[in-house]
Amino acid sequence: MSDQVRARRVAAVVSPMLTALREGTRDHHVVVERRLALPDRIRVRKDLGATLAALLDAWAPLERDLAAADWTGLPVGARLGEAAALLRADLAALGVVDDVDPDRTSGVLLDTTARAVGGRYVLLGSALGGSVIAPVVERRLGLSEGEATGFFRRSGRAPGVDWRDFRQALAGRDWSSAERRDAVEAARQTFEFVGRTAAVRASG
Ligand code: HEM
Repeated sequence: MSDQVRARRVAAVVSPMLTALREGTRDHHVVVERRLALPDRIRVRKDLGATLAALLDAWAPLERDLAAADWTGLPVGARLGEAAALLRADLAALGVVDDVDPDRTSGVLLDTTARAVGGRYVLLGSALGGSVIAPVVERRLGLSEGEATGFFRRSGRAPGVDWRDFRQALAGRDWSSAERRDAVEAARQTFEFVGRTAAVRASG
């Protein structure tokens, strides 16, 4: 490995933006884990349907807002790692009707590249948790691998590659402290939106 490549890899790991996002949202992750109570709350197929419907209520508007954000400041696609379609497919597999209003927005301010980075960080990062949740749910409900767990598994996608590309893109440019603050604030609001939205229906 050339020194240049090594330097880039190291930079990707210690990117100040990623560090800010991790440190700035650690508590928010704990809260969302507690509010969503996954995989514990999924005991029967009905629970899985309710949980996925609630997650779609959060994911659909967030992904819509992120796709419309200004990504000119970062070399990643505006739809990097999108997963709402997988939620819809899982719901269809369970026979649950998806009733999300397609025009709904999240209300989280994700308009600038820095703020969009905060939102995307949260959605991309959730795939790391999903890979832990999926096998437990499948075992408990007697589902085969990926059966109604396509969202948790990001079936047919490449979440590891998306995560790596995102991290590298973050490390590939300088961010002002104001931009880092904006990104962290947007990530916190995104966590809160997911926790609020997905907890309500899952427990209802
Ligand atoms: C509720 C069940 C959840 C569990 C059990 C869980 C678990 C995990 C695990 C195991 C990791 C990887 C930690 C590591 O390898 O360093 C992770 C990372 C992450 N999760 Fe979750 N998670 C859950 C829900 C969520 C949700 C709903 C979101 C987003 C709304 C989320 C966002 C993230 C983010 C952004 C990271 C990346 C942290 C980083 O490396 O910077 N998680 N989670």
